[in-house]
Amino acid sequence: MAEYDYDVLVIGAGPGGYVAAIRAAQLGLKTACAEARETLGGTCLNVGCIPSKALLHASELFEEASHGALAKFGVEIEGAKLNLDQMHAEKAKAVGELTGGIEYLFKKNKVTWLKGKAAFQDSSTVKVGDQIVTARDIVIATGSVVTPLPGVEIDQKVVVDSTGALALPKVPEHLVVIGGGVIGLELGSVWRRLGAKVTVVEYLDQILPGFDGEVRKESAKLFKKQGMELKTSTKVTGVTVEGDRATVSVEPAAGGAAETLSADAVLVAIGRKPNTDGLNLEAAGVKLNGRGQVEIDHDFATNVDGVWAIGDVAPGLMLAHKAEDEGVAVAENIAGQTGIVNHDVIPSVVYTMPEIAGVGLSEEAAKERGEVKVGKFPFMANSRAKTNRDTDGFVKVIADAKTDRVLGVWIISSLAGTMIAQAAQAMEFGATSEDIAYTCHAHPTHAEALKEAAMAVQGKPIHI
Ligand code: FAD
Ligand code: NAI
Repeated sequence: MAEYDYDVLVIGAGPGGYVAAIRAAQLGLKTACAEARETLGGTCLNVGCIPSKALLHASELFEEASHGALAKFGVEIEGAKLNLDQMHAEKAKAVGELTGGIEYLFKKNKVTWLKGKAAFQDSSTVKVGDQIVTARDIVIATGSVVTPLPGVEIDQKVVVDSTGALALPKVPEHLVVIGGGVIGLELGSVWRRLGAKVTVVEYLDQILPGFDGEVRKESAKLFKKQGMELKTSTKVTGVTVEGDRATVSVEPAAGGAAETLSADAVLVAIGRKPNTDGLNLEAAGVKLNGRGQVEIDHDFATNVDGVWAIGDVAPGLMLAHKAEDEGVAVAENIAGQTGIVNHDVIPSVVYTMPEIAGVGLSEEAAKERGEVKVGKFPFMANSRAKTNRDTDGFVKVIADAKTDRVLGVWIISSLAGTMIAQAAQAMEFGATSEDIAYTCHAHPTHAEALKEAAMAVQGKPIHI
């Protein structure tokens, strides 16, 4: 029998890879994880979820303190000032603590961190930096990178991607965001709250593709109310930079008169693509699909025996929690157990204010599959939201008209990201809207709006 250096080698230490490595080690497998970055945690911890949430939180505090929003609660603040360097420093501290935390977990679980970029030599041999290692099972968890916009060069000074937009050294006067998706809206919100004029240019006729239609419409209304300019059905035809200014040329997506936008910062956020660069997958014989993703089966196995793939590099939503769950499942499959991820119940959250969250099918997608019943409840009628003067948004529950099984839940609320977990759990357990409606929810909480929306599916909410 062949002798290997490791039972399992995971390539990439993002939420998919580090979780897979820890679970494999917990299951008694001798495990290593190769990571090209200086720190563990991947895109999410270093330049994604964590720093973006740090800036979203801090910028929200700044906006509340500086715009008199607290005065109606009797909290009067004068002379609030922005210290952007301090804001970035606190963000960096959170990132450092969390990436350091993964290093600690690797040590605790005896996962060996192989530092360097990994490239396959054959299906069980990988070169990491100058080192050659062999493993019986190899998990590809190399994540994703920014999709470039042809003809637009990212210089990380005037024209930035999300990584540059997380580290701008000063607040731009005018930030043009190309792409009205999750990154554009989250980071656009950060810089708007800190004082920038923000214009979002979106190719489609609505922001947030993939979300429920009504949620997309209502979100756009709220972002506009906050002062963000949304130019939908508009395409960018070019960006030129002169000194510290950019000129963004745009025209209607369907064709028509062109115009230019002058900006001192441009954020390109038109999506992310799977990262297989330099992995030398050909040497292992691993196949990609037409979208450049590593092709896998239900168990996360590629076409090559002993080679697996998870997270952003594989098909499905590009979300940290999806990658993490796949990390646990793939390690369990490698260990001979049965690792499963229910890809129909993966929540999505946009961490703006209010937050926008969904799980399962949109109303449009559900209707394509059959007859549905929809219940909605506005936060305007929720006692806690009213008390907190926090009434933007609603909960929407979509259920199968015949079986009443919940097919999708959508929430716009300051607490949507936390509330959606309850909906996901209910759906995972196959709940009906009646199950949610007859579950006792604490009063006064925002969560009662989910119960009321479920009651509304039967046409019987109490508080509207
Ligand atoms: P990654 O996190 O991308 O990790 C892959 C790792 O592999 C990287 O560290 C890379 O250096 C390493 N690597 C690549 N190739 C090699 C190689 N050949 N050898 C060695 N190492 C290699 N998702 C959420 O769920 N919630 C959020 O709030 C959220 N916010 C985001 C904000 C931003 C600005 C961005 C850009 C993304 C955000 N995401 C969020 C998405 C999330 O970051 C990704 O879905 C998640 O990181 C994917 O995890 P992964 O393990 O598949 O890959
Ligand atoms: P996205 O796919 O969410 O949005 C990209 C947007 O750009 C779409 O609306 C698309 O129609 C538009 N677009 C594409 N080409 C365009 C063009 N040429 N001109 C104008 N608009 C164009 O991608 P985004 O925002 O870059 O984020 C990438 C991924 O990162 C997300 O899909 C998500 O999975 C992940 N992410 C998740 C977050 C979260 O969970 N809170 C936060 C940030 C990122």
